[in-house]
Order: sequence, then C-alpha cells, then structure tokens
Amino acid sequence: MQTTANTLKAWSVTRYGGPETLAPVTRPMPVPQANEVLIRVRASAVTRADGMMRSGTPRFARLFLGLGRPRHDLAGTCLSGEVIATGSAVTRFAVGDEVFGASGLNFSANASHICLDQDGVLLKKPEVLSHEEAAVMGDGAVTSYNFLHEVAELRAGQKVLILGAAGSLGTAAVQIAAAMGAEVTGTCSTRNAGMVASLGADHVIDYAEQDFADGTERYDVIYDTLGVSSFRHARRALTRTGRYVCPVLSLPLLFAALRTSMFGTRKARFSATGMLKPDVQRAMIGRLIDLAQAFKFTPIMDRSYPLDQLIEAHRYVDGGHKKGNVVVI
Ligand SMILES: NC(=O)c1ccc[n+]([C@@H]2O[C@H](COP(=O)([O-])OP(=O)(O)OC[C@H]3O[C@@H](n4cnc5c(N)ncnc54)[C@H](OP(=O)(O)O)[C@@H]3O)[C@@H](O)[C@H]2O)c1
Repeated sequence: MQTTANTLKAWSVTRYGGPETLAPVTRPMPVPQANEVLIRVRASAVTRADGMMRSGTPRFARLFLGLGRPRHDLAGTCLSGEVIATGSAVTRFAVGDEVFGASGLNFSANASHICLDQDGVLLKKPEVLSHEEAAVMGDGAVTSYNFLHEVAELRAGQKVLILGAAGSLGTAAVQIAAAMGAEVTGTCSTRNAGMVASLGADHVIDYAEQDFADGTERYDVIYDTLGVSSFRHARRALTRTGRYVCPVLSLPLLFAALRTSMFGTRKARFSATGMLKPDVQRAMIGRLIDLAQAFKFTPIMDRSYPLDQLIEAHRYVDGGHKKGNVVVI
C-alpha cells in the first residue's frame, strides 16, 4: 500500500463478511472542513466491535450500519496520531499536536490519515500513553469506565464480578474497579489468571473449571463483558439489589433490561458507549487519563500488526482469544 502527499491508504469494506472482505484502497487526501483536523494516524485499534461491524452481526445491528451493505465503506473506529492540518475554525488543536480518539459510526480509522471534528471524541494524547495505547482507549477503557461508573453505579467496598477479565473490556474493567476500591473477581482461563490477578483482581475464577453462579458468593455487580452469561443465569449470584450489566446487546438482554426496569430489585442494564455524546465520552476518557497518570490504569496490549496486515489482525481478533487489545500501525 503506497501513499503519496495527495493520497491516503485505508481499508474498504463494501459488503458484510469475513476478514477477506476487507480490501486495501487509496483515496484522495481529504482537506479538513472548517471544524476538522487532518490527522496522520500512528496507530489504530482492531476491536471485536470492528469485526462485528464488518460481518454485520448480529443482524439487527444492520439497522444502524446499513441494511444490505455497510453504509460507511472504510474500516476502523479508534486511533491515535498527529495533527498535520487544521480547518479555519479549529481552536482546540494545532498542527503538531499528538491526539487520539474515536471516529464512531464515521469509521475510516484503519488508515494512514483521517479527518475528525474537533468537537468529536478527540483529545490530546498524554505522554503517559504511547500511540498504540492511546489508540485503544476508545474501546475497552471508555466502555468499562461507562459500565462500571455510570451503568452499574459500582461503589467502593462493593463486590464486582467481571466475566471475560482478560479481554479488552475485561482488562480495563479489572483495573478501573480496583481503582474504585471494589472487591474484584475476574473470570478467565488458567493461562490468563496471573495477568488478571496482577491487574488488581482479588479473586480469579477459571471459567472452564467453575460456573461462577454455582458458589455461595453474591455480587453487587456482575459485568459480563462478553455476553457469555445472561441475567437469568447470573441473577442467583447477585445480591438482592445487584445489577447485571452487559455491553453485548441481545434480545434476552433487551427484554431483561425492560422487565427489570419495571419489576424486581435486581436489574439488568445495557448501554451503547459509542452512542454517548462526544463531550460525555471525552470526560470519561479524561478521568481515565488521570488514572493512567496516577499509574492506576494502563491499556493492556496484545499484538501489533502493520496496517498492510489488517486482514490478519481481524482474523486474530475474530478468534476471541486476544489478551487486551490489538492495533495496526
Ligand atoms: N456496548 C458497548 O458500549 C460496547 C463497546 C465496545 C465493545 N463492546 C462489545 O464488548 C464485547 C467484548 O469485547 P472485548 O474486546 O473485550 O473481547 P475480547 O478482548 O475479544 O475477549 C477475548 C477474551 O475473552 C476470554 N474469554 C473467551 N470466552 C470466555 C468465557 N466464556 N469466559 C471468560 N472469558 C472468556 C478469552 O480468554 P481465553 O483466550 O483464555 O479463552 C480472551 O482473553 C464485544 O462483543 C464488543 O462488541 C460493546
């Protein structure tokens, strides 16, 4: 993939399918609109959500993504890089600033360059984060911050169970919950138990050996980062006013959230973090930066691929066994 001063390199996805539906493309270099900055991308995330958007699953997500084919044809949602041009009305950023953020449903982040609105999910990159680490902040970190602080309303001293503690959302959640002063239990496989404990989990459950709901332990919050359980199954491991929160939307979760919003003391909740207003997401990421600067949070990085190998990166992420986060650079 060659780029010149007048072109950018990116990856198109013009139909729903497997990683091989991704195709390298060159496009004319965009000129930033008045409120936009042009960013030279140094690293961009490859996430589970990117794979789901590429494949158009679950199918009801196509209502937002495009019914017959993706409405936006360039892949990628989270990135970090350097501002190389600004529009006439830009005041928050200047050429040379190192920045990171998310393009959301405008996609196009797995590219050499991208234009983003200065009022979108875009922040100056702190020194404490590398470009690779900053690129993934818009995925697991901000999602788990939203779910633990806002959706579950976790408080210091409470017991939280994190299902999928070794993934992108899970590794962030363990650190955030520990920083909040909660008693943290995480589920993962044996090979990831040491990592999850080192991130701040007080207890680790091997999901292949033990069903978390079979024991006598009761949790104030169960955060099912992968949608591997259900409210119906998890409710017996919840305290009387416990909350089951899950970022993976399904019809059973939707019905459970609706039903428990009206009846019962145990609640099921969902949120689409990327749909929150940009200023809300920026504020959450700002608090994560504070945690990173206090050495209480760091994005966990698994693999880094060259941008040219986005297909291989998608294959790895689709496998469902990454530890933390994957980027292309
Ligand atoms: N609603 C929102 O706001 C929002 C935002 C972002 C993402 N999401 C969604 O969140 C989900 C999670 O994404 P992610 O990136 O965190 O996943 P991920 O990183 O791909 O998760 C991989 C990890 O899950 C572990 N795992 C697999 N099966 C497990 C099980 N049954 N129990 C416990 N751990 C298990 C694997 O460990 P082993 O290799 O040891 O099996 C691996 O370490 C995705 O579906 C994504 O679309 C939602």
